[in-house]
Amino acid sequence: MTFPATRMRRLRGTAPLRDLVAETVLAPSDLMAPLFVREGIDTPQPIASLPGVSQHTVESLVKEARALADLGVRGLVLFGVPATKDAVGSPAWDPAGIVQVALLRLRDELGDSMVLAADLCLDEYTDHGHCGPLDDQGEVDNDAAIELYGRVALAQARAGADLVAPSGMMDGQVGAIRAALDGDGFAAIPIMAYSAKYASALYGPFRDAVDVTIAGGGDRRGYQQDFRNRRESLREVDLDVAEGADIVMVKPALSYLDVVAAVRARVTLPVAAYHVSGEYAMIKAAAERGWIDGPAVALEQITAVKRAGADIILTYLAGELARVLA
Ligand code: PBG
Repeated sequence: MTFPATRMRRLRGTAPLRDLVAETVLAPSDLMAPLFVREGIDTPQPIASLPGVSQHTVESLVKEARALADLGVRGLVLFGVPATKDAVGSPAWDPAGIVQVALLRLRDELGDSMVLAADLCLDEYTDHGHCGPLDDQGEVDNDAAIELYGRVALAQARAGADLVAPSGMMDGQVGAIRAALDGDGFAAIPIMAYSAKYASALYGPFRDAVDVTIAGGGDRRGYQQDFRNRRESLREVDLDVAEGADIVMVKPALSYLDVVAAVRARVTLPVAAYHVSGEYAMIKAAAERGWIDGPAVALEQITAVKRAGADIILTYLAGELARVLA
């Protein structure tokens, strides 16, 4: 028996045929937009290393969120830039803290049109830039941190967050947050856990966006994962599932598609992936030089994240992709 030379090409002949057989279809409803809100500014401040992304005022944040909701983007994750920081990161759970104020306004203005979430961590709020308070040796104190994460979860839930997203990579954080929420009448609030979060150089532009410098030239390798490891991410995921996570996340996305695929195969929960600031910035920088077709690369790369197994993709490209996909 002979096979025709056109065997694989038969289904590639026209655009409608390719659409009919497409295995992965990216939709605006797959996307969540990370957004920044800064306390004490009157006009939005562009972020140089994240072209097209700004630190918002509460007013401009509401406008941006409404535009995203109109485009079919179903969720946002809010990051706060407080006017003052301290050793424990107390503005993170202050009811008058910038994220709580912004969540209340968004809830009022947007109703239920979008899932409202905020990053649940302390690094944007501590003066040393670590994800929790430090012990006498200058290491992040795990158990003190997760106790504070419980407070942040409650503050966000009271301000109207639909889900909480802990990103600190402390051991036991999901269980501690679940207990805090359940103990205060918020049993219905899901946890989207940053389960497999790597210590990555791709977070550089984000740290400009939230004005975070880690004290003493430090890094987060004492609590975030080593990028040489994949099996370890499955242990992280297993623990988070056992502690009550409702959605598990892999971060970054593009350099970790093998991890996304492995996590997808491991769990029946929804899987999220975070296409991070450095991944976004690389597309923008190359496109600006005319070296790549930015929108085409954006669509290809974010589709690849979904193809690898992500149900939810957090991306600074949410708005521009939603416009293309609409
Ligand atoms: C921690 C946090 C970080 C990001 C999201 N949450 C930074 C870090 O862990 O150092 C990075 C996101 C990005 O690079 O887009 N609160």
